[in-house]
Amino acid sequence: MCGIVGYIGKNNAKDVIIEGLKKLEYRGYDSAGIAINQGGKLKIKKHVGGIQNLENLIKKEDMESHLGIGHTRWATHGAPSDLNAHPHVSMDGNIAVVHNGIIENYVELKEMLKKEYSCEFYSDTDTEVIAKLIGVLYEGDLVDAVYKAVDMMRGAYAIGAISASEDDKLVAVRKDAPLIAGIGDGENYIASDIPALLKFVKEIYLIENNETLVVTADKVSIFDENRNPVEREVFHVTWDADAAEKGGYDHFMLKEIHEQPKALEDTLSRRLGEDGLINLDGISMTKDEIENFSKIYIVACGTAYHAGLVGKTLIEKYVKVPVEIDVASEFRYRDPFVDDKTLFIAISQSGETLDTLEALRVAKRKGARVLSIVNVVGSTVARESDDVFYTWAGPEIAVASTKAYTTQLMCLYLLSLHMGLTKGTLERAKYDAVIEELKAVSDKIRLILKDSAKIEKLTKKLYNRDNIFFIGRGLDSAVAYEGSLKLKEISYINSFAIAAGELKHGTIALMAPGTLVISLATQDKLFEKMRSNMQEVIARDADIVSIAKEGNESIEEQSEAVIYIPECADEITPLLSIVPLQLFAYYVAKRRNCSIDKPKNLAKSVTVE
Ligand code: F6R
Repeated sequence: MCGIVGYIGKNNAKDVIIEGLKKLEYRGYDSAGIAINQGGKLKIKKHVGGIQNLENLIKKEDMESHLGIGHTRWATHGAPSDLNAHPHVSMDGNIAVVHNGIIENYVELKEMLKKEYSCEFYSDTDTEVIAKLIGVLYEGDLVDAVYKAVDMMRGAYAIGAISASEDDKLVAVRKDAPLIAGIGDGENYIASDIPALLKFVKEIYLIENNETLVVTADKVSIFDENRNPVEREVFHVTWDADAAEKGGYDHFMLKEIHEQPKALEDTLSRRLGEDGLINLDGISMTKDEIENFSKIYIVACGTAYHAGLVGKTLIEKYVKVPVEIDVASEFRYRDPFVDDKTLFIAISQSGETLDTLEALRVAKRKGARVLSIVNVVGSTVARESDDVFYTWAGPEIAVASTKAYTTQLMCLYLLSLHMGLTKGTLERAKYDAVIEELKAVSDKIRLILKDSAKIEKLTKKLYNRDNIFFIGRGLDSAVAYEGSLKLKEISYINSFAIAAGELKHGTIALMAPGTLVISLATQDKLFEKMRSNMQEVIARDADIVSIAKEGNESIEEQSEAVIYIPECADEITPLLSIVPLQLFAYYVAKRRNCSIDKPKNLAKSVTVE
């Protein structure tokens, strides 16, 4: 997804901006650009492709300047090209703009600008419309022009703007797309995301919707939509820059897979007291409320949604309350049955996914209590929720989510155990037993990771299959969906997950010699049923690779290969069985020479509909 970096101060703006944009590369992008104010003139350079292309383009240029804005673009309006890349400029070239998000009424604004101001357009983007609009409204005061332009725009955006004739400031504005300001000494920054600034500053302001930032070298000022100054607390970032580096691994994804034991320990230890009880510090949900929820919704997208599938089973089991689960893009356009006795759980790594955010707002309007499970501290989902249950996964850079998923699961275990115990629907002995299992999970994952080489070897004969199916029953089916998504998003293999019992209702028609089926068979109580489903597949000459608990050797006769996970209770298996599937996807993608950390067409944070 698009990224923004802006700088004003004592250093060379170009260097800061390029460095910052590189830190946002993981979000996925297709072109990059920069605008600087050089002696009262704007110099704009942009290039399709990676930041390296932009660097090559400006290598021999004099780009010395104290003020600039830069952008990585992920195409929405108009194909990836030099022309469509940001920054975009006003008619007179006096104003340059970068923008994340979508301007919904850009067509009507464009028509108006053509008709009333004879504006001509060189790109297909909605961002150029913003630049032209600010340009025609400009009367010597950039802040004023930005305010007037924003009044005329509909949509979701974070915008950064500079003017040739005002070399003492950069202006930015936010509505439904992330924006932060970095506070330096004699220099200040704007960015769409924290990692862009980690190398330079640890103190930031989180900008809220409809706020405008005026940034000079000495000061960051925030104003509300009525142009009143706003006081904002400084937010201290605790991640260090190294957490956003590869640290010796070939890819961020592999590093993040290996970080899971530690991330899970962090997520667990922050919530578990010495008495074995879960502390909900910072969460104000009361016993009365827990007892009175008549329904729970879990809403999320992609991997976070798959975590929610596990959460549904856990909550229904421990809390004995009906749980509905939905993908956010569907939930928000239905008329969901939500009221003030509903607990709405949003799950999001980034906390900026627009669909999830809008679903949350729908639920809030209908009176639900909103609790979110979020990784990025201070993100919009976190800020708009009544309560936040943070995952302590640290920054997740690879587009394919791994440690965010397992820590989301951990939060769902803890939340459901806490609610069950509080409500009296879960006995303390059972609660204690599950907590003990959770404490043992990280070491069990370490054992799986130690055996990675076996999974890598297995991929040697399987990496060039055209179709791979994932099947499972109960909690295994939830993990099958996530395993399949991991594989398809980074290896581009056509992959499909289905509850094993559903196979015979249609999908089994696709089983044929050469088809590979990954069969998750970790649920003791469903094992016999699963065995029958595997038999159905074998009868069609498809090959099976199984995931099973250690000790279950009987499964070997039905499988080409078995990947074992350490023994654990049935309800804990998702935390373990996903790890070999993440490794499988990773090694298959590696053998296929895919761009693992930045798969094509995908973005880390999806801030558009
Ligand atoms: C897949 C993946 C995506 C995200 C989805 C939601 O590996 O990462 O499916 O899970 O886009 O993103 P968040 O969790 O940031 O709301």
